[in-house]
Amino acid sequence: MPDTHSPALRSNQPADAHAAVYRYDEFDKTFIFERVEQFRAQVERRLKGEITEEEFKPIRLMNGLYLQLHAYMLRVAVPYGMLSSTQVRRLARIARVYDKGYGHFTTRQNIQFNWPKLEDVPTILRELAEVDMHAIQTSGNCIRNVTTDQFCGAAADELVDPRVYAEILRQWSTMHPEFTYLPRKFKIAITGSPNDRAAVQVHDIGLIAKKDEVTGRVGFTVYVGGGQGRTPYLAVKARDFVPVEEIIGYLEAILRVYNQLGRRDNIYKARIKITVNEMGADKFIGLIEEEYARLPRQKFHVDPAIVDAIQTHFAPPPWVDLPAVSDSFEAAKAADPAFARWTRTNLTEHKTRGYAIATISLKPIGGIPGDAESSQLETVADLADLYSFGEVRVTHEQNLVLAHVRKDDLYPLWKALDAAGLGTANAGLISDIIACPGLDYCALANTRAIPVAQRIAERFADLDRQHDLGELKIKISGCINACGHHHVGHIGILGVDKKGEEFFQILLGGDAGTNAALGEIVGPGFDYDGIIDAVETVVNTFVNLRQPGEIFIQTLARTGHAPFKEALYARA
Ligand code: HEM
Ligand code: SF4
Repeated sequence: MPDTHSPALRSNQPADAHAAVYRYDEFDKTFIFERVEQFRAQVERRLKGEITEEEFKPIRLMNGLYLQLHAYMLRVAVPYGMLSSTQVRRLARIARVYDKGYGHFTTRQNIQFNWPKLEDVPTILRELAEVDMHAIQTSGNCIRNVTTDQFCGAAADELVDPRVYAEILRQWSTMHPEFTYLPRKFKIAITGSPNDRAAVQVHDIGLIAKKDEVTGRVGFTVYVGGGQGRTPYLAVKARDFVPVEEIIGYLEAILRVYNQLGRRDNIYKARIKITVNEMGADKFIGLIEEEYARLPRQKFHVDPAIVDAIQTHFAPPPWVDLPAVSDSFEAAKAADPAFARWTRTNLTEHKTRGYAIATISLKPIGGIPGDAESSQLETVADLADLYSFGEVRVTHEQNLVLAHVRKDDLYPLWKALDAAGLGTANAGLISDIIACPGLDYCALANTRAIPVAQRIAERFADLDRQHDLGELKIKISGCINACGHHHVGHIGILGVDKKGEEFFQILLGGDAGTNAALGEIVGPGFDYDGIIDAVETVVNTFVNLRQPGEIFIQTLARTGHAPFKEALYARA
């Protein structure tokens, strides 16, 4: 593997020295290790039978440990999706030593281990703590991992790098004493690009960072009350611009109002989206403003010195001056059509000349969406060290990203990825499916979701056909809770139980991006075999109707749902 000119390797520093992950200070480290030992004692009491599973439940949930259908599941926080290669190697080791040799990346940029033994969990958490990682606030009714744009700090279309603000929010929300027992879980997403890649409008709070052209001031448009689940809502705009120094105070006001008024009487009505919509957005926003006016502003003021200090963790890596065009990249594309195909879907424009952002597909045809084996994680870590300053990102679409690859390095990178089963040219295409764990793991599931995703991918295995179809996002949930984002799939699939049998409803027209929209159910569901044919019918209808250059969602917007319904339900 060529490695002669990778800046990370030429320096005396560790290969991941420039990875933009937040490095813990002594306070953080001590806290995390103490927390592990506290949990170890709790686990021991559980194993000795001194506490029941019911008594243990709130304790384990404080530490990211769920009980699924067949086993415990440990959800590990990946703050805003940023990982160093050292951390990725540690995740690979944990998967190999303590689990079944793989990890699962989630739609909230975290990673889950599906089969840990209870007695091993404290040791796993200790191994995580050694690399500045933990599982705190990955479950429970608290503020969860703040998610963001996987291309942050690299994308050409970015106006503000959201990572420093995501980190400020993380520090504010971690162990926040007032917001540890909210009415329900609380999810915040933030983007700094006009092209929303973080699905901000389906979050409890969505922040769009922006910079005032004239003053250079950074601030946020604040959205509130979005969410999926059984009652989906798009968020409403609460304020057009909250300057960065006021953002904690403003969010504090939102959380205080929700904490007081959120419905604790009914778990299905406990999310902020329900409070906003039952009360009416204007009234809710009025209450936020009243609370905000009452708050001791100075206490929540974000000190510019703190912003600067956190900024140092996210300094740009030492990019070098490169020509815009790479001859070797162009030659490789001309010589190798499979590589050329990958470059069309899996590369995104970088803000620095001569570099590109590479998306690593965790959706091989027939594979389990979002799963990565230990050896694959190790390959990704090695490639990150070689080609991307030792940094790896997780996307909410359950893929990985190397954000700073020299164009010259793209061909060797892709060859290595492809050899490891990670080079599928399908980012954003029909086989790049989000699927929840469904009946394979989840105790709440009505239906399978992973096998449906696998079978759709297999039906459309021909990459030329996928590329011809263009961008088309399928998202599948195994029940109404919508963990698989079916409400915002261009084609959403919802698994329902009908007299003990699995059925699958199709939703059309959802969108998680800048033009966020909730899909609508087109009609009665299909059985396990019928759903694959039904998806193909929808796709064929699109192919018949599309005008040159249109992608699925554009054709659907132009024609409406009627022709799709007709094709799906017309009697022979
Ligand atoms: C297998 C165990 C799981 C259980 C029991 C579970 C349970 C739930 C429940 C009950 C909801 C609805 C919450 C509400 O509307 O208030 C929900 C929503 C959600 N879950 Fe899960 N989930 C599981 C796994 C996952 C996984 C693996 C992911 C990520 C891939 C995930 C991501 C989400 C997302 C994105 C939502 C909808 C967004 C929202 O919070 O409104 N869940 N989950
Ligand atoms: S959508 Fe339903 S089946 Fe799927 S993971 Fe969530 S709760 Fe389980």
